[in-house]
Amino acid sequence: MKILVTGGAGYIGSHTCVELLNAGYEVVILDNLYNSSKKAVDRIEEITGKKVTFYENDMLDADAMESLFSKEKIDCVIHFAGLKAVGESVAKPLEYYKNNIQGTLCIVEAMRNHGCKNIIFSSSATVYGDPAFVPITEECPKGTPTNPYGWTKSMLEQILTDLHTADEEWNIILLRYFNPIGAHKSGLIGEDPKGIPNNLLPYVAQVAIGKLECVGVFGDDYDTPDGTGVRDYIHVVDLALGHVKAIDKIKEKPGVKIYNLGTGNGYSVLDVIKAFSKACGHEVPYQIKPRRAGDIATCYSDASLAKKELGWEAQYGIEEMCADSWKWQSMNPDGYKD
Ligand code: NAD
Ligand code: WQD
Repeated sequence: MKILVTGGAGYIGSHTCVELLNAGYEVVILDNLYNSSKKAVDRIEEITGKKVTFYENDMLDADAMESLFSKEKIDCVIHFAGLKAVGESVAKPLEYYKNNIQGTLCIVEAMRNHGCKNIIFSSSATVYGDPAFVPITEECPKGTPTNPYGWTKSMLEQILTDLHTADEEWNIILLRYFNPIGAHKSGLIGEDPKGIPNNLLPYVAQVAIGKLECVGVFGDDYDTPDGTGVRDYIHVVDLALGHVKAIDKIKEKPGVKIYNLGTGNGYSVLDVIKAFSKACGHEVPYQIKPRRAGDIATCYSDASLAKKELGWEAQYGIEEMCADSWKWQSMNPDGYKD
């Protein structure tokens, strides 16, 4: 079975390619390398000892998508490609709507033209907005995203669902990720943000290695056990394995399915800094700062539906997430750059 992984050179995509190859699938990657490096593709091959076919193209290039689907007989698409920086999306809404929405339309149009009607889409817990309840089940109503990035996820969930309404041959799995962190055990692939990281883990890792001075903790007056924000961090390899299980599900022709991919556990910002300090062997300095606009207090999943219907459950805890993230950071202090 041949899987097209859009955004396969990126953080979650590269880890998913490794697990797909390990499970015996043929992998084709499409990525324009806007937020990633060809080196990640080489390292996927190094880790697995298997070859992937790599297309360096923009998903907005309809001719290139046509040509890709003509050359490759794709059975299923795992669609990671997209822009994902929340703050940047507020400043550049048009770029985000164009890339994420128009790009997805190009992909699914090429899929339809070539009779490939199976897609697994990277959605996000961000679609729950400030969640109506925690732990968040898939029954929790979608909320109001606070930024264009979040809206692209919410709108794309609807667009893909509408495809199935119009044509029941489509099988669509919407995976709502919580907070992916960590890296492959080999230390060869991991998260390589451009510039100053926006997310907690890469920021903490860069303070730990001495590239940044001190972690700013965005608020300690939330209604949480220690006052700092609580999130459901999930090891990226667990997340990758969730996609392999989603491929099994899509073979059953399930129509539209939605699954949370999280651990079901919430950790505070201070818990994460403590766990990372243990992993790297020294205290990571931090300072309490004001709250960040748009943040919510608490967000963690009820992941029992994925366990019941996909037979998937996260295996790794916060210690391994931090240890593996540290291994990647210390083996590659400048990420994929030379
Ligand atoms: P990433 O930026 O590392 O990977 C995305 C990849 O898509 C990059 O390699 C980028 O070059 C590629 N890409 C972007 N636009 C493209 C285009 N027009 N054509 C071809 N390739 C293009 O991000 P990630 O963290 O691996 O996230 C993967 C997906 O998961 C994204 O859709 C993201 O929104 C979603 N997601 C991520 C998180 C997270 O915290 N990392 C959480 C929830 C959902
Ligand atoms: C986690 C916690 C911060 C940085 C984002 C997106 C979401 C999803 C995952 C894609 C919060 C605190 C952070 C720092 C801090 N992405 N923090 N200092 O905001 O939960 O989710 O990434 O879909 O859509 O919004 O993740 O890692 O930015 O923050 O104190 O320097 O760490 O306030 O409580 P978030 P995050």
